[in-house]
Amino acid sequence: MDAFEVNKTIGAVLSALLVVFGSKTMLDIVYKEHKPEKAGWALPITEVAPTAAKAPAAPFEVAKVLALLPKASPENGQDTFKKCLQCHTPDKGGRILTGPNLWGVVGRARAAQPGFPYSEAMKSHPGNWTFEELAKYLHDPKADIPGNKMAFAGVKDDAELADLLVYLRKLADSPAPLPQ
Ligand code: HEC
Repeated sequence: MDAFEVNKTIGAVLSALLVVFGSKTMLDIVYKEHKPEKAGWALPITEVAPTAAKAPAAPFEVAKVLALLPKASPENGQDTFKKCLQCHTPDKGGRILTGPNLWGVVGRARAAQPGFPYSEAMKSHPGNWTFEELAKYLHDPKADIPGNKMAFAGVKDDAELADLLVYLRKLADSPAPLPQ
């Protein structure tokens, strides 16, 4: 065997190996699925912690206000009534301002002050000003009697509202009994 023969033989063996391993590699490349270790990219976004949001205010419950009445303070209520003085007088026979006089309002029929131009909304709302009705109205006048013309946002704090109600109760010759 001369050198040329040896070279030919080696060449043949090498080609054979190339074919065998080459095709295996090609098959691997074509058929092997390359699954990523994890689908997608891990984006560097950490979940934003909710900011210390205020807990939503508890829904208004008139019963809670009524329950506070026995211990409510008419003195504090008189203080809150300063918000009303712009439009209401509290004294017996007091003048009509933007709003009606509120002497004896607890227990009186709605829209009953003679000479005061009540809105249709107020006039068509039946019933008396019980503590319960006053609490609902004074908590949120617009929602309680839609279309009434009292431009007042309402007393949102239950305790303050209770104080105001016991103050209004005192605006009478004989104050109405507290609800049981
Ligand atoms: C900006 C003026 C204004 C303010 C402030 C105001 N009111 Fe009035 N209020 C009115 C008007 C006007 C009416 C009549 C509403 C209607 O006829 O629709 C009214 C009606 C009322 C009524 C019904 C009276 C009735 O005879 O039927 C009550 C009770 C009342 N207000 C209480 C209060 C209290 C208590 C406050 C304070 C916490 C207050 N209001 C603040 C203007 C005001």
